Formats: sequence, structure tokens, C-alpha cells
Amino acid sequence: MTQSKQKLLIIEDDPGLQKQLRWSFDAYDVVVAGDRESALAQIRRHEPAVVTMDLGLPPDPDGSTEGLATLQQILALAPATRVIVLTGNQDHANAVKAIALGAYDFHQKPCDSEVLGLVLQRAFFLHALQQENQRMLQLQADSPMTGLITRDAGMQKVCRMMEKVAPTTASVMVLGESGTGKEVLARALHQLSPRANNRFMAINCAAIPENLLESELFGYEKGAYTGAAKQTKGKVELAHGGTFFLDEVGDLPMALQAKLLRFLQERVIERVGGHEEIPVDVRIVCATHQNLKDLTAAGRFREDLYYRLSEIVVTIPPLRARLGDAALLAHHFKNKFSAQESRSGLHFSSEAMSAIETYGWPGNVREMENCIKRAVIMTDGPQISADDLGLSAAAPEDEPLNLRQVRDEAEHKALIKALARVDGNIVKASELLGISRPTMYDLMSRHNIKTGT
Ligand SMILES: Nc1ncnc2c1ncn2[C@@H]1O[C@H](COP(=O)(O)OP(=O)(O)OP(=O)(O)O)[C@@H](O)[C@H]1O
Ligand SMILES: [Mg+2]
Repeated sequence: MTQSKQKLLIIEDDPGLQKQLRWSFDAYDVVVAGDRESALAQIRRHEPAVVTMDLGLPPDPDGSTEGLATLQQILALAPATRVIVLTGNQDHANAVKAIALGAYDFHQKPCDSEVLGLVLQRAFFLHALQQENQRMLQLQADSPMTGLITRDAGMQKVCRMMEKVAPTTASVMVLGESGTGKEVLARALHQLSPRANNRFMAINCAAIPENLLESELFGYEKGAYTGAAKQTKGKVELAHGGTFFLDEVGDLPMALQAKLLRFLQERVIERVGGHEEIPVDVRIVCATHQNLKDLTAAGRFREDLYYRLSEIVVTIPPLRARLGDAALLAHHFKNKFSAQESRSGLHFSSEAMSAIETYGWPGNVREMENCIKRAVIMTDGPQISADDLGLSAAAPEDEPLNLRQVRDEAEHKALIKALARVDGNIVKASELLGISRPTMYDLMSRHNIKTGT
């Protein structure tokens, strides 16, 4: 909590009572409102943690309809607000109604400032606790996984999901367009799992000729076929205790699909030309950019195998759908390749940055990686221009429309974009946004944005 006084909103139409409450609670930064409209305006403006509210508000000062309606609107606007309802002494029914609507507590008039003071204290305390809890959850959610650079919320979700799945033995199917980082994710999952000390073995089903695939997967015995000079373990067996990654699983030929299924059911392998059943313990992760459901419907992929492989399915969003990631990754790759090529001091021109942000990246991160590598090698001066990148800019997308959230979302987006654009430099980002540095820090903490990647 900061040193400044905490905001308390008092909603009370009686000027005398207003004054009295303000005076009693001068330990807080008190703002007042006398009706629904001004109450909502104060909520928007000050976002007080705690509100005391008289249920009898004009135009219904003797009833409770206006008060209850105001309460509902406050909670819709700022659900974390702790609202303490002040009721007349015979008004138990309305107090109950208010609690049912989400009020935090009620207090009977005339107010005993000492008791009400304690209720307020506890409300502020609980609110702070809740905020802190929220912040911790968010912080946790902000740390990406090994080798995975992202600040996008959708990608963070994917990471959180992988963290949950990692300790289990569930098979994981990673879907996503080409170049989105399916293998990166599979490796990160392995790293997070209790199997990290054993091997991560990968096989690309599309890259190996069908007649070699079986012995690649399951190994072979000496003399199994001409040229099989010695007994050789397959990749599945080599991954024992670890993770086996089947890339482009949609390309697995039907005959091998049956063998893989058998392995998944029995957890034993037989080497080509061998008769021994060898137990193997691996976690299977597979990936494909194809639509396996379609392949299944077309009879090109076994449905039973599909279900075995897809206990957990995770879809990696394409780069164009990730907020701020294009600029973030561009900086990352620029730094990486400048170091590799011993080219220090390279930077993107602002047109280059716009092009990076607006281009659709159909080849996703892989395309970005290649594009930046080429630019780092080809650029003559210290500045990488849009031309050096060879990009043609696309039209920016339309933003959705809505009220308070829009402002919040826009703010969040602007911060992420600005930070990504200047590679996490807070001073430069605040300049870009036209705000002071303290405001920048303030906004970053409000939106739970950390620097660094
Ligand atoms: N989030 C990321 N952060 C850093 N590097 C990434 C990220 N995602 C992908 N990459 C890099 O982009 C390249 C492509 O990633 P990867 O091979 O995992 O993609 P893929 O989805 O398996 O692609 P394909 O469908 O072509 O096999 C790799 O060089 C990888 O290191
Ligand atoms: Mg891949």
C-alpha cells in the first residue's frame, strides 16, 4: 500500500450527515456524493476501495429502490469495491437485500463512528488483501516458459496450461500454424516436467521416408534387414523416462499409426526383427499444423489414435493474433543475430517497426526469425529500414467498442505496444506515450506489466 491516504466514498444525501461522516473519517481521503449520478462519477474518477452508502437516496429518500439500484451499478462498474450500506434501524429487510446484491456489510443509523470505523478498517484491509492476491496471481501469470518469448495474454494462458499439465503423464497435442512455436512449447513442457533429466526425443513424421520410419521409431535388431549391422535403439526407446515428440503426426502412415496405437495401449515396443517386448515409459507430445479431425473423417487418421494422442489439446495462436509480440520478438531476434554477427548498435527505423507491427506474418515466428536475420546481415548502416526487412505493410485492424473496459484495454494495449516497440525501455516508452515517467510506472503497476522478457 502507498503512503497516501486511502480513498473513501461517502454516498449520503443529507448534508449534515455528510459533514459528520467526513469529519469522523478524516484519516481517509474522503470524497462525497449525494445521488446516484454523482456516486457513479466519483467511482469512475477515484476508484475508492471502500464506499459507505445511505440506501435512501433521492428521488426515493424514504425508500430503498434508488439506493439498491445505485449499489448494483457500483458493483457492476467496480466489482472489487467494498460497499457498506447504512440503513434505518427498522430496515433489516433492505440490509439483507443489499447484502444479497453484493454489499460487503451494513451498519445501522444513527452511526456509531467508532464501530463504523472498525468496519471500514476491516473493509480496507480485505480489499488490499484481495488486490494483492490478484497481483500475485497476475505476476505468476506473467512469467513465460523456457525459451518462449511472449507478453501476449493468449500465449500466457497456453503457458499456464502447460504448467498444470507438465507434472502429469497426459498426452499433449500441440496445434498451431506453421512456425508458431509448437516444438518450442513441447520442449518447454518437457523442461517443466519431472522428466526433464531424461531425454527429449523428436521425430518428424513428414521428413522420414515411410520404410525407415518404423526402425527410427522402434529401433531394429542386428540382421533385421540388409545393412542392419548392429542392434539399434529407436527414438521411443531412447526417450525412456523422458518425452517423445511426434512432429507432423498427421503425416504418419496408416501402418505405423496401428503400431503407435499398440505402443500407447500396451506401453511396450518391439524392435524391427526382434521378438522381445520392451517396456518403455514416455510422455507423448505430438504436433501438427493439419486438421486431424478432417483427416480422421477422411479415413486418413485413426480415430482411436487421435483420442490417445489428444488427452490435452493446446492451440498456439498465430503471431498476428498476439498483442505486442511481433515487436517484442523482432527486438529479441535483432539482439540475438546482432550478437552472432558482431554488429552492435543496430536499431529499427520507426517505419520498420510499424511494418513489423502491421504485417500479417503468415509464417509466424519462424518467418520473423528469418526476416530479421536477413536484415541484420544485409543492412548497411546502423538502422534497419522497412525496406531492409522487405515487408509490405498491411492495414491495421479495427478495435472493438465498449465503455470502461475499452479505456482500460486501450491503455493496456498502448503500454504493451509502446514497451515492445522500444524494447522495454521505460523512459522511451513514456516519451512515446506522452506521459511522465512516474505516470508510466504507475500505469505499469496498475496493469501489472513488468519490464524485461
Ligand atoms: N515464443 C517464441 N520465442 C522465441 N522463439 C520462438 C518462439 N516461438 C518460436 N520461436 C522460434 O521460431 C522458430 C519456429 O519455432 P518451432 O519450430 O517451435 O515452430 P513450429 O510451430 O514447430 O513450426 P513448424 O510448424 O514449421 O514445425 C524456432 O526457431 C523457434 O526457436
Ligand atoms: Mg515444428
